[in-house]
Amino acid sequence: MFKIDVDNINGKTESLYVFGKQSILTELEDNQIILNHSCRQGHCGLCILQLLSGDVIHQDCLVPLSQGEILACQARPLSDIKIGIRNF
Ligand code: FES
Repeated sequence: MFKIDVDNINGKTESLYVFGKQSILTELEDNQIILNHSCRQGHCGLCILQLLSGDVIHQDCLVPLSQGEILACQARPLSDIKIGIRNF
C-alpha cells in the first residue's frame, strides 16, 4: 500500500492510502478530490500534476510534460508519493 500526499487542497496537505492499481486521477476521485480532466487517455493535458517526491509508472502520454509533471489519468504510484495540484 502506498501513501499519496496531496499538497494544496485548500492550502493543506491531505494523505490517501492506495494499492497502486488505479490511476492517480481515479484514486483522487475515490477520495472526493476532483481534478480538472477530460479525456482520461493522456491526450488533453488537463490533469497535469506536479510530482514532488516518489516514483510513478506512466502510461501513454501525448502531451509535452515539463520536468516533474505527470498526468494523473496515466500515472500510478510505485512508491509513496507527494503531488501538487496546479493552481490555474
Ligand atoms: S484527462 Fe486528459 S490527459 Fe489526463
